[in-house]
Amino acid sequence: MADRLRVGLVGTGWVAHQHAAGIRAVAGDLAEVVAACDPREDALAEFCDRHGVPARFATAGELVRSGEVDVVALLTPPAVRDEVLDPAFERGLHVLVEKPFATSGARAVRYVAKAEQAGVTLAVGQNFRWFPEHVWLHERTARPDAGEPTYLEARSFQDRRQEPGVWRARESRLEMAIYSIHLIDRLRWHARRAPVSVSALTRRAPGSDLPGEQLSTMVVAFEGDLVGHLTSTWLARGLPVQELRVDTTTGSFVAAREQPMAGEAVGRAEVAGAAEEVAFPDDGPVTHAVASYGSSWRELALAVREGRESAHSGRDNLATMGIMEAAYLSAARGGAAVTVAEALAHG
Ligand SMILES: NC(=O)c1ccc[n+]([C@@H]2O[C@H](COP(=O)([O-])OP(=O)(O)OC[C@H]3O[C@@H](n4cnc5c(N)ncnc54)[C@H](O)[C@@H]3O)[C@@H](O)[C@H]2O)c1
Repeated sequence: MADRLRVGLVGTGWVAHQHAAGIRAVAGDLAEVVAACDPREDALAEFCDRHGVPARFATAGELVRSGEVDVVALLTPPAVRDEVLDPAFERGLHVLVEKPFATSGARAVRYVAKAEQAGVTLAVGQNFRWFPEHVWLHERTARPDAGEPTYLEARSFQDRRQEPGVWRARESRLEMAIYSIHLIDRLRWHARRAPVSVSALTRRAPGSDLPGEQLSTMVVAFEGDLVGHLTSTWLARGLPVQELRVDTTTGSFVAAREQPMAGEAVGRAEVAGAAEEVAFPDDGPVTHAVASYGSSWRELALAVREGRESAHSGRDNLATMGIMEAAYLSAARGGAAVTVAEALAHG
């Protein structure tokens, strides 16, 4: 392996630009983008010219077989998984795959087993953990005075109108698979307990042509009697909120911002009656969003270098996938509780 991980991107759409910028800004000493592929020739050429990517391929198969990359970044819509992941594992390549990393619970379990058999690192693009207010919240709730969690609540209210004609507009799994899987990942990361079961309801906008849900709400039962509650809607026509709250035996802690990926964020705590507040302005040369993608790459590259599991490994992500898959099953059953174990055996 070269000193820096040689990264090949599969898919050069919107999120690929964020990954390339993030690697450059935050992980440039550990990784570099050396190859990319996309069936859309114009998009591929424009992307590679803009980011100085030397090797260009029409298909993922050519990129995987090229011998020019150590790690594949799978940045396509969720339907493209088996045909890239299986050959990448078979060639002994590490993989970072965008969320959701599988189209069912059982497939997610299979990918994790295959990556482990191949001895490669499989990481999932849950970059939302690396927004600064959540790094703060995670560290703050780990301090000795923070007590034990008793309740977590994630709330996301945004006015997100899905344009017709793009792949998202055809997805039958929309709000959770595309957006609130990030919030699910944060919820259970901050919970620090294994999820056990989920009760969920999903809704589409009245009169919507979209097949997928645009509002999701769920209650997650974690081990040790801990309860988490998550509501995420794309149908809030005003008063945007992105907030995650943790109540513990000694205090209360909140990470908040208005917009999902931009603007100032804040961390607040009240422990034993003492208030704390930390502001995170987003006015530096590297935005919070770009830094979050880069931090995810930094963690992957360090895990590979140190021969350890990454914080956002596929195995770790089974808890996130398990909650989401259980939520979809529960919603299909009118909100009846579904265990994470059943959801990870499904499909
Ligand atoms: N982590 C995040 O914050 C975040 C944000 C946005 C999107 N995403 C995820 O990233 C993925 C892509 O989203 P996007 O917004 O970039 O979509 P996009 O439509 O902008 O780009 C997807 C690209 O993949 C290409 N593609 C499709 N099939 C391919 C194949 N077989 N081989 C190579 N390229 C192929 C398309 O031509 C397109 O250029 C989705 O899974 C989405 O959920 C994650």
